[in-house]
Amino acid sequence: MTLLDTDPDQGLAPLEFAVTRNLAARGAAEREQILENPGFGTAFTDHMVDICWSMRGGWHRPRVQPYGPISLDPAAAVLHYGQEIFEGIKAYRHADGSIHTFRPDQNGRRLQRSARRLALPELPVSYFVQSLRELVKVDAAWVPSGADQSLYLRPFMFAKEAFLGVRPAQKVAYYVIASPAGAYFKGGVQPVSIWLSEDYSRAGKGGTGAAKTGGNYAASLLPQSEAYENECDQVVFLDQDGNVEELGGMNIVFVKKDGTLVTPQSDSILEGITRDSILQLAVDRGHKVEGRPVSLAEWRDGVASGDIVEVFACGTAAVVTPIGQLKGKNFFDEQPTGSLALSLREELTDIQYGRREDTHNWLVRLDA
Ligand code: PLP
Ligand code: COI
Repeated sequence: MTLLDTDPDQGLAPLEFAVTRNLAARGAAEREQILENPGFGTAFTDHMVDICWSMRGGWHRPRVQPYGPISLDPAAAVLHYGQEIFEGIKAYRHADGSIHTFRPDQNGRRLQRSARRLALPELPVSYFVQSLRELVKVDAAWVPSGADQSLYLRPFMFAKEAFLGVRPAQKVAYYVIASPAGAYFKGGVQPVSIWLSEDYSRAGKGGTGAAKTGGNYAASLLPQSEAYENECDQVVFLDQDGNVEELGGMNIVFVKKDGTLVTPQSDSILEGITRDSILQLAVDRGHKVEGRPVSLAEWRDGVASGDIVEVFACGTAAVVTPIGQLKGKNFFDEQPTGSLALSLREELTDIQYGRREDTHNWLVRLDA
């Protein structure tokens, strides 16, 4: 679970972005109205980043351009074979007005790992970080300043070559779009209820579970609908051996009575940067941390016996959210809630919003 901190792309010359301003950019009044209550993933800023890749030309034509529809050949491979990857990362406005993001090198590296698995080209991490900076520079006014608000950045890459043969595409597009964000769950940080997917899995051994690729999310939609039908907020998946993997869009962490934090580890789980950071903060406080398989039986028995004292979900969009219930076809377990999840959430968000010292050097300023 240790994520590397060094950037092998250091020394690459920065890209020269061509910037085309959006002449139909929304005015301040309309923007402020959207920022008042942005929700999650519904409103988008006025610009987007676009970089092309081809087998012959490598990464080229870096642009910031008006946000708008993408024109694709109907034979573009992504529409047929799902060769696509993405990232999720936020920009935070500090009290002095400056704008920062959080561990972007880690998201850049994860995008590279996803690219490798999906046979897409690896974007250098320095280009990745630059792409965020270029977009935030032109859309800085869209970074909200309200409590727990941020600008959610969504970098993504897909196969755009028009070719129906099944092989890695030789033409690829990379984009970054941005969406002002408030709380991911409607209830804010209220404990969420989780539906156990017993009939469907999200990923398999040797599959794409560790990559951030659209297909994993497509596979989660039917079980997620099942969760809604059963009045649950989110779905949790097991692997073939009955071990807990993760939620549709978040990792899961168990807190034991002795203060140890345990989180599932396997090659079919997305390695979350929020999880890594939270676990680091817990280690800083003297907690023990374990990454290992956790069976459903260990979870349920641990809650019943009192050995597990808290369960929480974590991810960029949802930050840290306590889990209040686990529901399956034939059972309903109330989950114990304590104060550790919320205090780690507070410490993490204090760092992200510049209210507490960033002792791990996780923040990267985007507007300077
Ligand atoms: N697991 C899945 C399936 C996710 O979509 C996410 C969100 O990105 C996470 C875990 C948490 O990852 P991170 O903390 O890097 O956002
Ligand atoms: C994120 O937290 O960035 C994600 O990708 C989760 C997604 C379900 C919104």
